[in-house]
Amino acid sequence: MPVTILIGAQWGDEGKGRFVDWLAGSAQVVARYSGGDNAGHTVAVGQKVYKLHLIPSGVLHSEVVSIMGNGMVINPVNLVKEMDYLAGEGINITPETLRISTRAHVITPGHIALDKAREAQLGAGAIGTTLRGIGPAYFDKTGRTGIRMGDLLDVEVFADTMTAALERSNAQLAQMGAELVDVPAAVQAYVDAADRLRPFIQDTTLYINQRLQEGARVVSEGAQGTLLDVDHGTYPFVTSSSPTSGGALTGLGFGPTHVDRVIGVAKAFSTRVGGGPMPTEQQNEIGARLRGTGENFWDEYGTTTGRARRCGWLDVVMLRYAAMVNGFTELALTKLDVLSGFETLQLAVGYDVDGQHVTTPPSTTYQLARAVPIYETLHGWEADLTGVRSWGDLPVEARQYVSRISELLELPIRMLSVGPERTQLIQVS
Ligand code: IMP
Repeated sequence: MPVTILIGAQWGDEGKGRFVDWLAGSAQVVARYSGGDNAGHTVAVGQKVYKLHLIPSGVLHSEVVSIMGNGMVINPVNLVKEMDYLAGEGINITPETLRISTRAHVITPGHIALDKAREAQLGAGAIGTTLRGIGPAYFDKTGRTGIRMGDLLDVEVFADTMTAALERSNAQLAQMGAELVDVPAAVQAYVDAADRLRPFIQDTTLYINQRLQEGARVVSEGAQGTLLDVDHGTYPFVTSSSPTSGGALTGLGFGPTHVDRVIGVAKAFSTRVGGGPMPTEQQNEIGARLRGTGENFWDEYGTTTGRARRCGWLDVVMLRYAAMVNGFTELALTKLDVLSGFETLQLAVGYDVDGQHVTTPPSTTYQLARAVPIYETLHGWEADLTGVRSWGDLPVEARQYVSRISELLELPIRMLSVGPERTQLIQVS
């Protein structure tokens, strides 16, 4: 069974890109299955840092085929920009190495304008979206009025479809008193992008299944995280797609019998961007320390929006839930090095919800907002971990921290990261 699914176990930004990059070294296909350019994947290779929003992290391996699956929503103009950025970095992308699903949906400038207008209307209750048009694009998809990447293949039909779609969104924008989209300019920009993208667009469902039959190893690259899933996350403070393992199947079009590994990626602490409950958030010096100053690209500021992330202690209650929803077979823990220097560390092992002690999160967001974490305290460590490469060389307190999380989750933790660079990984023995 040749498929590995890699999923964020928290609210996104877990550092998935670097593990995809690592797994890609022994895979033939890397496929993204959900979301769009709301994602920000950072992979550091030596002195170079690659920031990807749409294209799978597998693209950094020349022998790997990258797929943008049907579950994605794609802004064609931004995709062309990302391809040009990578070409400038010496990464050659061809229709052989990047394949875009005909069934993926298109994000239009109308979707972006609607995302902004809806967030502005929500005021203090805003979701805090990335303003990339993600929600409105999925809204059109499920409402059966969306445009698909396959529509870009016929330029004349596409221009008409795009014009009609923009006129529809302009009508909505006018009702909301928001600025309208310049339709001819937007259509021209998209027609130009379509000219560039046409050779890359194909039936990726068929391709992936053919490769699976041939015995290829496929890595399904998750974007966002479990707690942002439209079904399983902290609704309505979620994205509009399914970043969980079920989403990998529908977002690429293969059956569950192909999957043998489901890797959850979690940070060694918790972060969240945008609104919504986050029980272990630390709006204090601890949170500020976890966040970092922003001087380094791996500090807790969004790759896509630059927003400061909310930071707090590791929430094992949420991780337990993520493991259950996704069927994780193992966990990878990132940014362990950031915890150096804390005298003690806290793990949320349960919540008090209205006087009741629970070990799984409440299923309604308003109850979750009232959850008070019950912490277990562990010893911290002083040593800098960024140069450590083996489990045995970690301070005993760091090993105890990792082992305790593994024990609480009843899940093996196989990989740790102790810095942003490709080689700053530790295999847990
Ligand atoms: P949207 O996906 O832009 O609609 O945003 C919905 C919510 O998901 C907001 O809280 C965003 O901050 C969050 N979100 C979307 N993509 C990411 C991501 O890649 N990392 C972290 N949070 C994200």
